[in-house]
Amino acid sequence: MSAESEIKKITVPDILDLKKKGQKITALTAYDYLMAEMLDQAGIDIILVGDSLGMVIAGHPNTLPVSMDQMIYHTGIVSRAVKRALLVGDMPFLSYQASLEQGIENAGRFLKEARAEAVKIEGGEVMIPLIEKLIQIGIPVMGHLGLLPQSIHKYGSYKLQGKEPAVARQLKDDAKRLQEVGVFSIVLEKIPADLAAEITRSVSVPTIGIGAGPHCDGQILVSHDMLGIYDRFKPRFVRRYANLAQQMREAFQKYLQDVRSGKFPSDEESFK
Ligand code: KIV
Repeated sequence: MSAESEIKKITVPDILDLKKKGQKITALTAYDYLMAEMLDQAGIDIILVGDSLGMVIAGHPNTLPVSMDQMIYHTGIVSRAVKRALLVGDMPFLSYQASLEQGIENAGRFLKEARAEAVKIEGGEVMIPLIEKLIQIGIPVMGHLGLLPQSIHKYGSYKLQGKEPAVARQLKDDAKRLQEVGVFSIVLEKIPADLAAEITRSVSVPTIGIGAGPHCDGQILVSHDMLGIYDRFKPRFVRRYANLAQQMREAFQKYLQDVRSGKFPSDEESFK
């Protein structure tokens, strides 16, 4: 038996089991082959090809311009590297809001063309009919509540959600509805830790927090944020595990100096 065939693939039921066993779920984003391979080999549970790629890869100010074709392209790349983690594709803005048919076709593309195993959809009550339909036809869904980056123009800024009692109540109701229709997990983004804890206790499906405190069943970050590659700003909820942007800038400067001074290439780096 080869080493590859011994790898235990993580499935949607495995993610649900992790909550039952009280084991924290680990999730990060990836958009390219090498990073996805490193994450997978590190033993991550979930890899999300997030529409955050619009900001950290494509340089847009927000996630709104990201297209389905771009998501399919990056998800396909990531899927070639992933042997173990559950692979989730993020439905981009206006790929699912126009109609049930549009949402079903685009969600299906993630599984059919890019070998994702689930999709993520931003939104609560208003998205229930689509999410219910997708799950009925065999497309697992990760919900996403709290700060919804695709609604940035409604909020005006990426501010904390769920401070007002009415919004907190709506979030709790939305989480229950998502559970009822069968999502396998719910991302909770930028909400108070106590509210996230309450939601986490109230649903049987795992909550995956980003800026939602320590009581969620799992945590997710944008890899480029936690690696310090994207260093334009650091949200308070991001912990930097590396400072790669600085190391890369230093490496580029060193290369320029070495080429200009004739130190690169050396004899060992040249052929006779
Ligand atoms: O697009 C993304 O990367 C996300 C995560 C931050 C949850 O939605």
